[in-house]
Amino acid sequence: MMIKARRLVRDISELPLIPTIVTRVISMLDSQEGEPDEIADLLLSDPVLAARVIRLVNSPLYRPSSEITSVKRALLFLGFRSVRDLILTSYFINAFREKEQPFDTKAFWIHSFSVGAVSRRLAAMAGYLDSEKAYLTGIIHDIGKMFLGHYQQQEYSAMLAGISESGGSTYQAEQKCFGTSHSEIGLCLAQRWNFPPAYCDIISHHHTPSSATEDPLLTAIVTLADHVCMAHNGSNIARTGPLGQTEETAWQILRQQAPMLTVSDIDSLIASLNTGFGEIDREVRNIFMTMVA
Ligand SMILES: [Fe+2]
Ligand SMILES: [Fe+2]
Repeated sequence: MMIKARRLVRDISELPLIPTIVTRVISMLDSQEGEPDEIADLLLSDPVLAARVIRLVNSPLYRPSSEITSVKRALLFLGFRSVRDLILTSYFINAFREKEQPFDTKAFWIHSFSVGAVSRRLAAMAGYLDSEKAYLTGIIHDIGKMFLGHYQQQEYSAMLAGISESGGSTYQAEQKCFGTSHSEIGLCLAQRWNFPPAYCDIISHHHTPSSATEDPLLTAIVTLADHVCMAHNGSNIARTGPLGQTEETAWQILRQQAPMLTVSDIDSLIASLNTGFGEIDREVRNIFMTMVA
């Protein structure tokens, strides 16, 4: 399946780009080793990136009391991890912006940001140290769908119509239709964009969490968050099969690494989503509007 995925990605000459500087900044913010001055200098070496950070920090989402005009102040105002989120998500959304899709792209982003938000909550419950990283990896987990949807548009559209008619999961239908899936395609894209290994692992294994090697716990978190969000988002792009072995495996991994978690914790998370999902929905719409403005 990986060979098929590599071939499909290799055949596209005008792949959307995420600049190398973006992934260098992400790695530096991930490692928490950089000083604000050092990170600000790196951001400033790409004027487009620096301008984007300034524009985002002054957007209605954050409403600083006075306009922020320096990258270093933006870093201090938002915190390193929020800047990392903003940078990656804005480049990420832009990479496929205006690329026609056979599915509702707003529903896609709402699903992605919802998985990010639920992953963050689950990560905090599991005692995972970088819950913002959970948010970020949740947001980018399905990027391979954007590739397949755009570059294999007719086949993907027919595949989605088939799912609407006879059911089944998108992941399985992709394997049948393309000999690969959005997980392998997403991995090829993430590698092409030089994403850090843990990000690649989660994109690649969110439907096969037992195969994760770099960060099995975070992969399991995203797998479970994905399942919870699919149950809430009723669109084609988020169709899933019944709760099965994959989520069971993810739950076992989560339990091994966070034994304090119980099934009733997950039940209460899901129950809180029943009332809180509207809030997540509003939050993600807000983020989406700010990103593409
Ligand atoms: Fe997926
Ligand atoms: Fe998903």
